Amino acid sequence: MVRYIQTPPAAGSSAPSPIKATGRSLNWGIVSTGHIVSKVVADLQSLEDANVIAVSSRNEERARAFADEHDIEWAYDSYEAMFAEPEIEAVYIATPHGQHFEITMAALKAGKNVVCEKSLTINAAEARVLVAEAEEQDLFLMEAVWTRFTPVFARAMEILESGELGDPSWVQADLGFLAPYNPEWRLYDPAAGGGALLDLAVYPLTWAIGAMGFPTSVQASGDLNEDGVDIQTAITLGYSGVRHAQLMVSLTSSPTKEARVACTEGWLGTNAPLHNPTKLFIHPLNGPARTEVFEPVGENYTYEFREATRCIQAELNESPTMPWEHSVNTMAIFDGIRHQLGIRYPNDSYVA
Ligand SMILES: NC(=O)c1ccc[n+]([C@@H]2O[C@H](COP(=O)([O-])OP(=O)(O)OC[C@H]3O[C@@H](n4cnc5c(N)ncnc54)[C@H](OP(=O)(O)O)[C@@H]3O)[C@@H](O)[C@H]2O)c1
Repeated sequence: MVRYIQTPPAAGSSAPSPIKATGRSLNWGIVSTGHIVSKVVADLQSLEDANVIAVSSRNEERARAFADEHDIEWAYDSYEAMFAEPEIEAVYIATPHGQHFEITMAALKAGKNVVCEKSLTINAAEARVLVAEAEEQDLFLMEAVWTRFTPVFARAMEILESGELGDPSWVQADLGFLAPYNPEWRLYDPAAGGGALLDLAVYPLTWAIGAMGFPTSVQASGDLNEDGVDIQTAITLGYSGVRHAQLMVSLTSSPTKEARVACTEGWLGTNAPLHNPTKLFIHPLNGPARTEVFEPVGENYTYEFREATRCIQAELNESPTMPWEHSVNTMAIFDGIRHQLGIRYPNDSYVA
C-alpha cells in the first residue's frame, strides 16, 4: 500500500513549532499579488529562517502596493526581473494553473528553488518537463499541496497506518463552493486552466491517495460550461481489492467539504474544510468514538513552508512528503479525467 512519508509531527507531540528555524535563513521572492498570496505571505514571513525580501507582479503599482502592505523590501514589475536577482534563493509562485509551467520553468532556469501552487501544471507532460528541469539544475521543486504537511493529516495517516480501524476500503470526499460566473475570473478562464477539477480536486484526492495510494482506474462524469471548463465533476477511483474512492468537486454548489475514510473496522472523518480541517472524528467499530482537535499555526501554510525550507537547507531537490512522482501522477489522473470529459485548454504545451 502506498503511504505518504510524513515529516510533520502528530498533534500533541512535543515536536518543535513549524515556525522554529531548522537551519540557515533563506531569501524568498513572491510571484504575483493575487488572492492567495495575500493570505499565505504572513505564514512564510512567520518562519524564523525565512526572509521575504521581494515581490513581483506584472504590474508595477500592484507590486509596490503589496510590498508596502506586507513590509517587503523590493518590488519588481516583472517576474523575470525578480528571478534575475541573485540574492533570492527561493520563490513562491501563485499565478493561475495555466501560467505555472512557463513561470516555474523561468524560475528554475534562473537558478531559483520553487514552491508552486497547485495544480503544479495543467497536464502531466508539463509536470514531467518541470521535474526534469529541477533535477538537471539541482534545485528544489514542490507543489504546494498544503494539506499534506499539516499535523491533522499526518495524524490521520498515523491512525490508518496503526491498523486500529482495519484496512481502508472506501474514501468519500467533496469540495466546492458557489462561484458566480465571471469570464474574467481564472476559475472560468480556459487559458488559466479554469474549472473545478484543477482548482479543487487535488484536495479530495489527497485523502484518497493518503488512505489507499494511487488508483488503478479512474472514471469521471461532469458538466462543462459554454467556455469548456468543468463546473461540476464526479470522480470514481478504483483500486485492487474491494477499494474505491468517490470524489466530488463543484463550482455550482456548497457541499459538506468533508472527507471520510471507511475501513473494515471503523471509519475516520474530518470536519470542513477537508483541505485544512481542525478535527478528526475516529469511530472504531469495537470501541468508543473520539474527536481529536488541532490548533492551526497561522493560516496553516506554515507547515508547507517549513517543509520546503527544511528540504532546501538539507539540499534536497524534492520533498519526501510531496514527492515529484505524486505531482506527476496526480496530473496524469487529471489528464485522464480531462480526456473523459473533453476539457481542452488553449495553452496545453508538451501534450504528446
Ligand atoms: N493553497 C491554497 O489555499 C490556495 C487557495 C486559492 C488558490 N490557490 C492557488 O493559487 C493560485 C492562484 O490563485 P488565486 O486565487 O490567488 O488567483 P488570483 O487571485 O486570480 O491571482 C493570480 C495572480 O496571478 C498573476 N497572474 C499571472 N498571470 C496571470 C494571468 N494570465 N491571469 C490572471 N492572473 C495572472 C496575477 O498577479 P499579478 O498581476 O500581480 O502578476 C494575479 O493576481 C492557483 O494556482 C490556485 O490553485 C491556492
